[in-house]
Amino acid sequence: MSTDLVSSNYTGIVPGTMLMCLLSTLPGPPGVSIQDAYVQLLPVDKTVCSHVDPIRDISYQLYTRNNPLQPQTLSLHDDHSLYNSYFNFSEPTILFFHAFFESSTSTTATIMRTAYLQRKDHNILLLNAPRIEAGPWYLTAAKNTRIVGEYSAQFIDYMVSRGLHLPSLHLIGLSLGAQMAGVTGKNVRSGRIARITGLDPAGPLFTKWPKSLKLDKSDAEFVDVIHTDAGIFGYPRSVGHLDFWPNGGIAPQPGCTFREIARRNPDAIIEKLFCSHWRSYQFYAESVVSEFSFPAIECNSWNDFKSGSCDFQQQPISMGFLAHPLARGNYFLATNPESPFTQ
Ligand SMILES: *[C@@H]1O[C@H](CO)[C@@H](O)[C@H](O)[C@H]1NC(C)=O
Repeated sequence: MSTDLVSSNYTGIVPGTMLMCLLSTLPGPPGVSIQDAYVQLLPVDKTVCSHVDPIRDISYQLYTRNNPLQPQTLSLHDDHSLYNSYFNFSEPTILFFHAFFESSTSTTATIMRTAYLQRKDHNILLLNAPRIEAGPWYLTAAKNTRIVGEYSAQFIDYMVSRGLHLPSLHLIGLSLGAQMAGVTGKNVRSGRIARITGLDPAGPLFTKWPKSLKLDKSDAEFVDVIHTDAGIFGYPRSVGHLDFWPNGGIAPQPGCTFREIARRNPDAIIEKLFCSHWRSYQFYAESVVSEFSFPAIECNSWNDFKSGSCDFQQQPISMGFLAHPLARGNYFLATNPESPFTQ
């Protein structure tokens, strides 16, 4: 810890930053979980305070059919934990990157995990980086996606050196997590990532940032994206090889008008903000457990889709889990306002 503080990186930085970095190397600034959100007294900007504590700042929680409820922690260069875990190199692996305000135990990560556990055939790795993705510090959390992505690329290279078959790995990220997955894909050295799924990749700030800091189709062999809140919390444009635009890809998604949310739960304040953004991972999780769901067709726009002027003779493809890795372009579909969402 002290060596970091006196290293040349820190010469000439303002005392406030120094204090923040000091705090972030100690047990960390105080934070609390409020309902499902991790909120912290101070931001911890890892692009300035570069020291990453692998357990406290960034780790990966492993769930398998042998340990569906109690995770095992894997981290960079930790052979002991890896070889004593249930990680099975013969099975496919997903690595899920959580969003702003979240951790590996948030509802979003839990729903993704539960969906994959039902398949009984995956290693499920959940990123856990609550302190550096803590609210309400969006600017810091967005900048830290680069640190998480670069570190996760090192983690994947380490896993490959221990026997991970790279084509069996699928990265999935929600919102800021989708941008992290893109940075990870760009920085992996042991080969190319086979697939990255972006679930409503974060829009704010990222529209102005270079490709190296966000998800785009150069980051993996196959990048598929589900847009549900484009232009608000989600990225406004196509970014993958294959972009799905359920219900046009914008807010309010069906079931997400203020009136519908209030009818379900009058106290749901956070849901009013995020309902459409969250549909991206809810659709994806449903697609994991119900195969051949969410049929979508290629079209120029949502208006063309609604007015029936796309080519409805074409063979539809599935959105989500079974998205076709050779399909390209923009695909549209309608969903139900509540689960089951597929039509
Ligand atoms: C690992 O996965 C393979 C393929 O599903 C399976 O046959 C094997 O039994 C698994 N190994 C362990 C130790 O669970």
